[in-house]
Amino acid sequence: MEISGKTKICGIIGDPVEHTLSPAMHNAAFNNLKLDFIYVAFRVKTNELENAIMGVRTLGIHGLNVTMPHKNVVVDYLDEIDPTAKFIAAVNTILNDNGKLIGFNTDGVGALKALRENGVALNGKKLLLLGAGGAANAIAFHAAQEVEELVILNRTAQKAKKLAELLGRKLNKKIKTNSLSASRIREELRDSDILVNATSIGMHPKVDQSPVHPEWLKPSLCVMDIVYNPIVTRLAKDAKSKGAKVISGIEMLIYQGAASFEIWTNHPAPIKTMRKAVLNKLSETGATH
Ligand code: ATR
Repeated sequence: MEISGKTKICGIIGDPVEHTLSPAMHNAAFNNLKLDFIYVAFRVKTNELENAIMGVRTLGIHGLNVTMPHKNVVVDYLDEIDPTAKFIAAVNTILNDNGKLIGFNTDGVGALKALRENGVALNGKKLLLLGAGGAANAIAFHAAQEVEELVILNRTAQKAKKLAELLGRKLNKKIKTNSLSASRIREELRDSDILVNATSIGMHPKVDQSPVHPEWLKPSLCVMDIVYNPIVTRLAKDAKSKGAKVISGIEMLIYQGAASFEIWTNHPAPIKTMRKAVLNKLSETGATH
């Protein structure tokens, strides 16, 4: 791809960003559609975030992804926040719309699309969500609008309760919460249709850990683990061996990326190309980070 004076620049800001899969995913997509865009990674330290956003304005950078640790704080430096990102109080995508910086959050949309596109319907279902951090907030916001029943379990039960109260008020829906104890997970799993792990349990290097005892998994369950490093987590392995349907965290990564791509380019994202680029990159790095 030729870089010209008109090439639009997109990128990711975070710290660390060395191992991000986003440049491979987005550049492959830009190339595939022959769009005059390029995507790079910028390491931005916490105390330099405000300056970095000023840089986006002065340099006319077209779009950004925002990752740890800036997703929450960046909200203060933008001109407009879309309603979903406002509710979640976290931005993972910025569009520079002729000088106006607009913040979005595509994590929840990405997770739900990953489920839907992999054949999992949400309507009328019970979804058990493990975790109440940033990703879980985004997923809960979207899932609560579609499923029949949402239950949120988190190590810090108070965080799950706060999230459920906020969501419950907004959507006029009762959401059950509790602590992430073995007995709670077991009890809630009995009549759950979908299980989403939005905790970091099982992430490299603690690859032998799983939030769920294998005995409680069942063939009728659909399991999505948002952890994608390793590609196949302990939970995913256990679920598969019990005959459950398993959706990899890679799918959420791809669909949240696809939603950002569409915000920046106004073109439908080439999902297959993006998936291939991510999987190639992961196999190059041994899929451990
Ligand atoms: P992200 O943006 O990826 O969601 P996060 O906001 O730091 O990251 O959230 C991490 C989630 O994993 C939280 O739900 C966290 O539980 P707490 O709210 O109690 O911190 C959960 N988590 C991380 N390590 C965990 C562990 N060892 N056991 C149980 N839950 C854990």
